[in-house]
Amino acid sequence: MSIRTSQGPQFARIMSVGGSRGSRVVDNAEMCTMIDSSDEWIQQRTGIRERRWVADGETALSLGSAAARTAIERAGLEPNDIDAILVSTVSHYMQTPSMAAVIANELGMTAPAAVDLSAACAGFCYGVGMADSMVRTGSATYVLVLGVEVLSDYIDIKDRSTAFLFGDGAGAVVVGPSDSPAIGPTLWGSDPTQHEVITIDDWREERPDGEGPFLHMEGRQVFKWATTFIAGKAREALDAAQVSPEELDVFIPHQANNRITDSMLRHLKLPASVVVARDIVGMGNSSAASVPLAMEALLESGDATSGQTALMIGFGAGLVFAGQTVLLP
Ligand code: UT7
Repeated sequence: MSIRTSQGPQFARIMSVGGSRGSRVVDNAEMCTMIDSSDEWIQQRTGIRERRWVADGETALSLGSAAARTAIERAGLEPNDIDAILVSTVSHYMQTPSMAAVIANELGMTAPAAVDLSAACAGFCYGVGMADSMVRTGSATYVLVLGVEVLSDYIDIKDRSTAFLFGDGAGAVVVGPSDSPAIGPTLWGSDPTQHEVITIDDWREERPDGEGPFLHMEGRQVFKWATTFIAGKAREALDAAQVSPEELDVFIPHQANNRITDSMLRHLKLPASVVVARDIVGMGNSSAASVPLAMEALLESGDATSGQTALMIGFGAGLVFAGQTVLLP
């Protein structure tokens, strides 16, 4: 006896992108009323000038739903055309139901496969890798991949080494079938020995002041990992797609720190013509949302155009990473 296995089209592509940002603009001057720092220090160390936080009434659900609606509409689809929704988030308050199920309900979807991923700042690129496989193996035709974060909820304002970094937003893409190659192999992996380098407090812990849970990060350790090991992985993601640095149009690394991006650029030896995402400057680090938000911003500004070749790489808590070379929607 043999069982039938699922089969899909040979290729998948990113069909569309949509984003939504917290509408409260917190510039470095305002940040420095909350922490002992300076605009100059923050800009020099990270490139950040301002970050976007949720305003009253905005939530992970509202940002995620808005980004999803835009991506679905730009793909020329209706919510019920989506077969599966993958949401990467570390800011959801509940273990269950998943944010994917809650967003699916908000969008009026009736029965999509719905699941959350916990891969922090690499989560969007994990999702694209999974969606690519799902489409090409025939387990879904259209997959909605979302990165959704409201990290301002987890900021310890007494910790000046992390408080200024993070932003709130959501980014979404629809992955669907393609006539030609448009998503290269996903390079992914982890260093589990560094699982304590970025953490969010255990929810069960009793905190005397009732504050938190908070995000904690050994910034220097992540910085070192990102500028050495991850820079090498970005190159492997390009090589795996058989794209040379000269053929690359756009580089969209996770928006963690402009100095990390600069270091990666030196390592990758990309030509000056490559457009580099610098969305962190006005957004801060929005973890799983940072790559799709940066992609949308480049396309909307005209700095990048549909059909161009882009290298994406995400890295963060776990420590985990994922990256791939794609054609822009
Ligand atoms: O998204 C997930 C992945 N995350 C990342 O990739 C983040 C990676 N890490 C980083 O981006 C950087 O480590 C940070 C931006 C978080 C920090 O920058 P840094 O250059 O690594 O600073 P540092 O932690 O080495 O601190 C340097 C100095 C210290 O003073 P001393 O010990 O040299 O006297 C800190 O006390 O800067 C001091 N410092 C600050 N000064 C002014 C730390 N935070 C601040 C601050 N303002 N906000």
